[in-house]
Amino acid sequence: MRHKSILSMGVFLLGALVFVAESTFLAGGNALAEDRDDQHWKAGDDADEVLEQGKQIFRFDTFGDQTWWGDTLHLHQAIAGAANGGVGPGVSPKTALAVGLKVDSDALPAQLKRQIAAGQVNLDDPATTLALLKLNAVVGVTGFFDSAGHIKSMGIQCAFCHSTVDNSFAPGIGKRLDGWANRDLNVGAIVSLAPNLKPFTDLLGVDAGTVKKVLASWGPGCYDAELDKDGKALRPDGKRACTLIPPAFGLAGVNLHTWTGFGSVPYWNAYVAVTQMHGSGAFFDHRLADPTQFPVSAKSGSHNVRGTPDRVSDKLPALHFYQLAIPAPKAPAGSFDTAAAARGKALFDGRAKCATCHVPTTFTEPGHNLHAPSEIGVDSFQADRSPTHTYRTAPLAGLWSHQKGGFYHDGRFATLNDVVEHYNRQFSLSLSAENKRELVEYLKSL
Ligand code: HEC
Ligand code: HEC
Repeated sequence: MRHKSILSMGVFLLGALVFVAESTFLAGGNALAEDRDDQHWKAGDDADEVLEQGKQIFRFDTFGDQTWWGDTLHLHQAIAGAANGGVGPGVSPKTALAVGLKVDSDALPAQLKRQIAAGQVNLDDPATTLALLKLNAVVGVTGFFDSAGHIKSMGIQCAFCHSTVDNSFAPGIGKRLDGWANRDLNVGAIVSLAPNLKPFTDLLGVDAGTVKKVLASWGPGCYDAELDKDGKALRPDGKRACTLIPPAFGLAGVNLHTWTGFGSVPYWNAYVAVTQMHGSGAFFDHRLADPTQFPVSAKSGSHNVRGTPDRVSDKLPALHFYQLAIPAPKAPAGSFDTAAAARGKALFDGRAKCATCHVPTTFTEPGHNLHAPSEIGVDSFQADRSPTHTYRTAPLAGLWSHQKGGFYHDGRFATLNDVVEHYNRQFSLSLSAENKRELVEYLKSL
């Protein structure tokens, strides 16, 4: 609806867009986030409507988190740059794409697409990034602009980390793929641009240099969602402490979620929306008040948050509904060897014992799907950052779509072959080289 109105306006030059968009589109864009407040799921609502609401929330709702990303960290100023009323050099579209941000081609007017294709749009100019934000074209990021068209704040959405695009227009620019893990996104590099890192230095009791060092350790596709609870910025061996961004698709029927099984989908959605994105809402988990395991949340109180107004809680039902409805994408034909994959399936279900834990078709155990670190032959660092002290059997559907960044919670295995080699040793499977290849082809087909 928004996109159509932009198209019909016939705004052709990017320069013109900057001026026109703010008065028309933007009013709509901001209202969108606000409107969500009076749309919430009620028993008996039409399922398609709930699904659509959930999609809108997943893609566009900031839950009011602009009070954190913009008003507190001033990240929007770093994006704008000094030339546009912000600070520093600003973030050009080229830089934004380089740190893994994605552009939704469906939000771009046709004329603008033609101009980009013809090389007539300056992708080195932060003003272009602001114009894209005005079009609501940057996946997972919303800019808030004043009536004079200056950016005054910004917020992020679930889609920031859990969506990418199909690159159909250009690398990083294409149609949205909801639920896909954005393994290009360098969250640490983006947060590190914030002119005000004081909230982090205060919370963690370290200086800005240390905060920047930790943020720089994450790299693409990795984020630490427990740092603000236990303050463990690095592993004891000095390596990064973040976990890979998992997909948010193919989760229907799966009991416990996150790499370490913190809880259900709505549990985690509230955790993230309130304590990570810093939306305004309620989150409660007494387990995170334990001062030994979670000294930072025990002190800050982020285990028991009651933000007002609550812009999260009444959205959890539709958000849950939508997430469960996102299917894992099918492996493209030709991306794996079908005959080898069929033999790999027989191994997976039989001799290699994979299916005892990765039970088809959710590829995790029906029931309490957690395992002690020793059972799968890895250290307990990340497990011990969770109230469960265990690892959750990772659902494997759509595995082919998140191979970048490696496998297991921290990407310790660079390739699927490395994963299979690990199991071969751990469970003394005596797999031949051909067996291993067949298992890998099967994993690529899921
Ligand atoms: C800054 C990046 C980021 C944002 C924003 C984000 N997530 Fe996540 N998400 C992660 C990471 C990293 C994990 C893994 C956390 C862990 O295991 O400790 C995760 C885990 C999940 C999981 C568990 C998936 C599984 O395999 O069980 C779900 C579901 C999820 N997120 C949904 C959401 C929703 C819904 C939102 C918006 C409210 C959201 N996320 C926002 C990074 C993000
Ligand atoms: C004892 C239960 C168990 C068995 C048996 C098992 N797995 Fe796993 N698997 C897990 C757990 C738990 C994880 C998550 C590890 C982590 O988070 O670091 C996992 C993770 C994986 C991953 C990484 C998924 C991702 O998103 O990074 C792959 C691939 C995988 N297993 C394949 C297999 C194959 C192939 C076999 C058989 C050779 C197998 N597993 C046997 C429990 C098991």
